[in-house]
Amino acid sequence: MQYNPGWNSSSVNLLHVWAAGPRDSLHYVWSSIGAPAVLLVATQSPSSALRVNWTQLLSPSPAGAIWIDPPDSVVYSTAVVFTKLFEFSEAKPSGELFYPTYDLAEFSWDSLNHTLNHTALTAELSGVPANDPGGGFSNGSLAFRVTAYEGQGREGRLPSLLHTADSSQLEFLLAGVAPRGNSSRFVLEVATVEEAGAVRRLRSQRSIDDEYTPTIFEVSEGWPRAGGDPAVLPCPHPVPPQVLSLVAESQNGSSTLGFLQWKATAYGSRHPRREDGIQCRAQGLQVANWTLPVSSIVQAYFGDSLGSTCTISALNVSFGGEEGEVYQEKRYLSWSVLLGFGEPPRDTFSPLVISITAVALGTPLAMLLLGSCLVLLAQRRRYSEYEPIN
Ligand SMILES: *[C@@H]1O[C@H](CO)[C@@H](O)[C@H](O)[C@H]1NC(C)=O
Ligand SMILES: *[C@@H]1O[C@H](CO)[C@@H](O)[C@H](O)[C@H]1NC(C)=O
Ligand SMILES: *[C@@H]1O[C@H](CO)[C@@H](O)[C@H](O)[C@H]1NC(C)=O
Ligand SMILES: *[C@@H]1O[C@H](CO)[C@@H](O)[C@H](O)[C@H]1NC(C)=O
Ligand SMILES: *[C@@H]1O[C@H](CO)[C@@H](O)[C@H](O)[C@H]1NC(C)=O
Ligand SMILES: *[C@@H]1O[C@H](CO)[C@@H](O)[C@H](O)[C@H]1NC(C)=O
Ligand SMILES: *[C@@H]1O[C@H](CO)[C@@H](O)[C@H](O)[C@H]1NC(C)=O
Ligand SMILES: *[C@@H]1O[C@H](CO)[C@@H](O)[C@H](O)[C@H]1NC(C)=O
Ligand SMILES: *[C@@H]1O[C@H](CO)[C@@H](O)[C@H](O)[C@H]1NC(C)=O
Repeated sequence: MQYNPGWNSSSVNLLHVWAAGPRDSLHYVWSSIGAPAVLLVATQSPSSALRVNWTQLLSPSPAGAIWIDPPDSVVYSTAVVFTKLFEFSEAKPSGELFYPTYDLAEFSWDSLNHTLNHTALTAELSGVPANDPGGGFSNGSLAFRVTAYEGQGREGRLPSLLHTADSSQLEFLLAGVAPRGNSSRFVLEVATVEEAGAVRRLRSQRSIDDEYTPTIFEVSEGWPRAGGDPAVLPCPHPVPPQVLSLVAESQNGSSTLGFLQWKATAYGSRHPRREDGIQCRAQGLQVANWTLPVSSIVQAYFGDSLGSTCTISALNVSFGGEEGEVYQEKRYLSWSVLLGFGEPPRDTFSPLVISITAVALGTPLAMLLLGSCLVLLAQRRRYSEYEPIN
């Protein structure tokens, strides 16, 4: 982890995290110059290096200020930009009332230098709007907490995302920010940049591992009341939590190049427990036909191709369902997402779930075996009652 490599001021933030393997190396470049963004570059050289021309990066035309040396070692690069935070309330009688948008490109960010932990491989980028007429941020802040990993495993904190050595976790935190409505909900807009040849797709799957995430009760209709009453009662039934992946695939679909992966839950507590879960929904992925905010590292790296051959896709992630008052009450929201290269990790059954399943499946099986034995014994005994008469 390197903070502002080659620059001795902490007025801007650029964090370089890299992982070197025997044949390749990966670079993550996090920055708050412009809108908060991360650049992900995979190279096929174990010694590829990040180069930054700082005078150019901090100039009004940063194109070309960030590159990887040697340039031909780059096999895949992408970027993720956190552009906007929307806030709205359900307005009576119908519709949604949107409050003025928080544009993350117009935030002022603290130096993350003092939050760097080289042991835990974490850093936190925290900011408030540069101009906050409503004073909503006077007691709060918006932050992105980055965690890099040295090996594969599962994050200890909920939502306990699985990770690999070449992925990083990002936690979006909204703490203490005063909501502008009585039942405000927040929506985070996330944009991705892909070069020619790659496309983003949203995949959704049900997690099979229930131990780590709250079960969301979905209300469905169609359970007839006893007695044949045709009236239907909404009946909550548990559904496994959803795991969403925004994957980058090669145009011909032959390989997965990178991903963002998250569970459909955010948390309303600093020390998240399952009962603090807040529903989180992804709205459709859109090809964004707008120019990105002047997120300098993205422009600095992709240069002019940003406006021509690159595709920008964006999606909204909303927090809170019908329980709109959760944020009002807790004034805390955290949402975790894993970023990485290649295929996203897949949940397998955890030992606890396996043992529960084993007990659940095993008990009837044992009963069945025991039952058969008893029947056999009983039959033996019955036969023995009819001893040969000879
Ligand atoms: C970051 O912090 C370290 C230790 O506190 C300090 O030595 C270094 O100069 C700081 N870097 C910048 C760019 O401010
Ligand atoms: C930062 O670096 C510049 C030149 O690169 C130098 O002139 C300046 O004195 C340095 N500032 C500090 C605080 O080290
Ligand atoms: C950095 O960029 C500036 C402006 O484009 C250029 O004049 C300068 O030579 C560059 N520095 C290096 C070391 O490439
Ligand atoms: C860094 O993280 C480790 C492990 O979480 C912790 O024990 C240590 O106190 C942290 N260091 C700092 C400076 O916060
Ligand atoms: C900020 O906190 C102070 C003291 O806790 C409180 O009096 C004030 O109303 C809060 N302001 C906002 C905007 O929530
Ligand atoms: C919020 O609730 C208070 C009291 O319940 C009410 O007076 C106020 O009009 C509500 N504000 C909005 C924006 O709904
Ligand atoms: C898909 O495209 C990649 C390069 O974009 C190429 O290397 C690969 O062979 C292609 N696969 C198929 C099945 O066409
Ligand atoms: C995107 O915007 C440009 C100009 O802003 C326009 O020419 C083009 O038709 C738009 N494309 C789509 C798919 O809407
Ligand atoms: C996200 O939601 C806001 C507010 O409804 C909308 O203006 C924006 O276009 C949406 N963005 C995407 C990528 O759908």
